[in-house]
Formats: sequence, structure tokens, C-alpha cells
Amino acid sequence: MPEQVIAHLDIQPAGTYIDMTVGSGGHARLILEASAPDGRLIAIDRDAQALELARQQLAEFGQRVQFFQRRYSELPDVLAEAEVEQVDGILIDTGISMDQMLDIERGFTFRSHDSLDMRMDRRQKLTTYDVVNRYSQQQLYEVLKLTGRQREARKVASRIVSSREGNGPIQTTAHLAELIAATIAGWSRGKHRNPAARYLMAIRVEVNDEIDELRLGLQVAVEALQSARGRLVVLTWAGHEHGLVRRELRRMQHPCTCPPALPCSCGKQPLIKLIVDKPLSPDEAEVRRNPASRSCRLHAAQALGTTER
Ligand SMILES: C[S@@+](CC[C@H](N)C(=O)[O-])C[C@H]1O[C@@H](n2cnc3c(N)ncnc32)[C@H](O)[C@@H]1O
Repeated sequence: MPEQVIAHLDIQPAGTYIDMTVGSGGHARLILEASAPDGRLIAIDRDAQALELARQQLAEFGQRVQFFQRRYSELPDVLAEAEVEQVDGILIDTGISMDQMLDIERGFTFRSHDSLDMRMDRRQKLTTYDVVNRYSQQQLYEVLKLTGRQREARKVASRIVSSREGNGPIQTTAHLAELIAATIAGWSRGKHRNPAARYLMAIRVEVNDEIDELRLGLQVAVEALQSARGRLVVLTWAGHEHGLVRRELRRMQHPCTCPPALPCSCGKQPLIKLIVDKPLSPDEAEVRRNPASRSCRLHAAQALGTTER
């Protein structure tokens, strides 16, 4: 939904924008083009390979773009380092990119016969191998229930533990996916979308601490936007992300915690106003062009210039 992203960021020439998840730089390029000739972009990604690709793709924009290999929850440090005081717009495009997905040796896909990895930042210690081979059955269940399928998640957790106890550690994403698929009743190869996909996503979310990152990322983004009353656009790709972003943005729009029947005594001021009330979905033409966009939702909000909480 690139056009809607740019429209909802309300890009101005000479504005300062942050792409918190620059990936291969597709959205970043559009932001730089729309903010020409003087707009500035801070490009963040926790994945060194993604950042290198973005650097190449955006080389023609020279000094207008700066790159930081950080988690987006570290935005305040990035802003201090880049000496940015006012931010006019922030984009968060969650999850992983197609480049990461298709890079077989990173282990994000069930086709991967390489080691169980799935780290976005390969400097971090925790990998999928650790989650799958070292977590207790209960811990595994807690991770896998993100799929929303509690009973099935229990069975999958139990199957993983009995496999590693009987046959030694699980070594590849493909092997893990086979085990998961074999646990799920009624699935036969080639019939439906591989049911392991949603379990692999739940494990990826754990390995990369994606839920806390997203919650924190929204907070630091909204804080950074206050002085310029800037815009926030978030693209989410999975059910748990759609819900989390919707709830957090609503809470920031209505932060008052006083009982509804009583006058407000908590003094909490709204930080944002939602500019799309119901998250937007891609239209049919876009889904036809790019079937993967089907699950995308666009959330957008404007900071209200609130200085106290
Ligand atoms: C869906 S892709 C972004 C694609 C990008 N918008 C584009 O146009 O190419 C998500 C990117 O965000 C990065 N990422 C995910 N979580 C992150 C986090 N917490 N901090 C920084 N980068 C993150 C991933 O490494 C990946 O490159």
C-alpha cells in the first residue's frame, strides 16, 4: 500500500522522517522522493544485510539519508546520535522482508535445510535452535499459542519435546516444519498452505522479541513525533500485530484510566488522534498484483503535541 503510506505520512519537502524498518529501501525511496529536494531520512534496521542493501538502493540520495543498525525501540539513542530534534513522520513496517524470507540460510522458511536461526540481528545470542531444543514443553507452548490454536499448540510443543528426547536436537527449519505438519490432523502435503508457517512465525516472534519491540517502538515513535505534531504510519502483517497496534494506538488516543462515570482525575492527556479509525486493507487490484499484501493493514495517527503524561 505504498501510495497510502506516503499520503498518510503527509510528506513535506524539507521534513525529517524516520523509516524504522528500512528493509531494502522501497518505502524509504518514496519518502525521499516525496520530500525532495531537502527532506531528511533516518533509516533504521536491526539486520546488517538489510541495511547494506538499503544503503546500495538509496545511494543516489547521498547525505539526505543516514543509516543505523539498531532495534527501533532504540530510537531515542538514534535521534541523539543523528542530532535530530523534530520528527515529521515515522513509518514502521513490521515483520521480515521477502529478501530475508527467501534467504534460505537464514532459516525463516520451512524449505530451509540450513541451521535453525531466524535472527534478524545475527549478533544476538538467542536463535531458533535454542527455543526449539532448550525451552521446556511449557515454555514452548507459551510461544506457540501465539497462533491462537491452544490445543494444537500443546500437541506441537509435546511433539517437539518427544522428538528431541528420542532422536537428539532438531537441526533444520525443514525438519521442524515436518514435525509440526505431522502433528496437525487432516493436513496432507500440497493440499493447503503448510500449517507449519504460523508456528514458525510464532517462534520467529519469540527469537526476535517482536511483541515487546513493537509495543516499545510505538511508544518511542509517538514521543518523538510530539514536538512537530508529526504522523505515524504502521503496516502490520499478522493477526497478533493488527490487534496490538490497534489497542496501543487507541490507548494513546484515550489514555484516561478514570471510571467512565466519574470526572477525570488522572490527568492523562491524549497523545495522538487516529487518522484512520479502522485499519486500511489493500484493494483488490493490489492483492491481484501482490498476493502477499492480502494480510497487510495500515494504521495511521497524528501526534497532538502533548508534552506531559
Ligand atoms: C517488512 S520489512 C520492511 C520492508 C521495507 N518497508 C521496504 O520497503 O523494503 C521489515 C524490516 O524491518 C526490520 N525489523 C523488524 N523488526 C525490527 C526492529 N525491532 N528494529 C529494527 N528493524 C526491524 C527487518 O529486519 C526487516 O528488514
